[in-house]
Amino acid sequence: MTDFLSLAEDIAREAGDMLLAKRPTMSREIETKSSPTDVVTALDKASEELIRERVLAARPGDRILGEEGGEDPGDSDVRWVVDPIDGTVNFLYGLPEWAVSIAVEVKGEVVAGVVNVPARGEVYTAALGRGAWLGDTRLRCNTGVPLDRALVATGFGYSATRRAVQGEVVAKVLTRVRDIRRGGSCAIDLCSLAAGRVDAYYERGINPWDYAAAGLVATEAGARLGGLHGRPVSPSFAVCAAPGLFEQLHDLLASLDPERDA
Ligand code: IPD
Repeated sequence: MTDFLSLAEDIAREAGDMLLAKRPTMSREIETKSSPTDVVTALDKASEELIRERVLAARPGDRILGEEGGEDPGDSDVRWVVDPIDGTVNFLYGLPEWAVSIAVEVKGEVVAGVVNVPARGEVYTAALGRGAWLGDTRLRCNTGVPLDRALVATGFGYSATRRAVQGEVVAKVLTRVRDIRRGGSCAIDLCSLAAGRVDAYYERGINPWDYAAAGLVATEAGARLGGLHGRPVSPSFAVCAAPGLFEQLHDLLASLDPERDA
């Protein structure tokens, strides 16, 4: 597990350094994916290529699932789940909230996760059963926060119809909590929760590459991460908070039927 974590950390640092160095002179040309607002830059692709090359050089035969390149076939029990830039829109605009996220799963369970936030100089790491860390500092999420004092992070998808429902839901949540934050990177939101910078997080429509590594950081910091009605976290829905707040936020969200898209 330690070997997986140190390899993932080395690779996430190398990709982050490359992105920081190349961003100032990057091409402004962008491609779009699921909608005109869902962008991908040449550097998303370059970062994923670098990560794939480094993983396969060290561990030929492992499988890789990446946001830009999809899933490599293979029969290994080990799968790397990679977001080469989480928070691509922030990256494009020069905002610091973007991250390189790398998780390692063994037989479907995430055992190691790294979220490198290069523009902030922060690297979050976690290994299953061994805690979550920001550099050398052990992380613990906030506990004992009631829903009406909770600072809640969330995000929105790229489709306009999904966003209409997400807007409806967040309007209701906003009246019941301390405040809402929309940072623009799911991976950073979950790491911020682990570090006590927000109390809770929820979102519909995030993908395994967004949450695999940071989900382990959050749970190793004491948070509960799941879907609605006892289901595991999935692209359908994610809720994360310390036990107690998790249930309160879950029940509020469940009453708003947030898994619909229209
Ligand atoms: C996005 C970010 C954002 C979240 C979106 C994700 P991307 O990932 O994590 O915070 O709200 O749902 O798709 O597109 O920047 O890799």
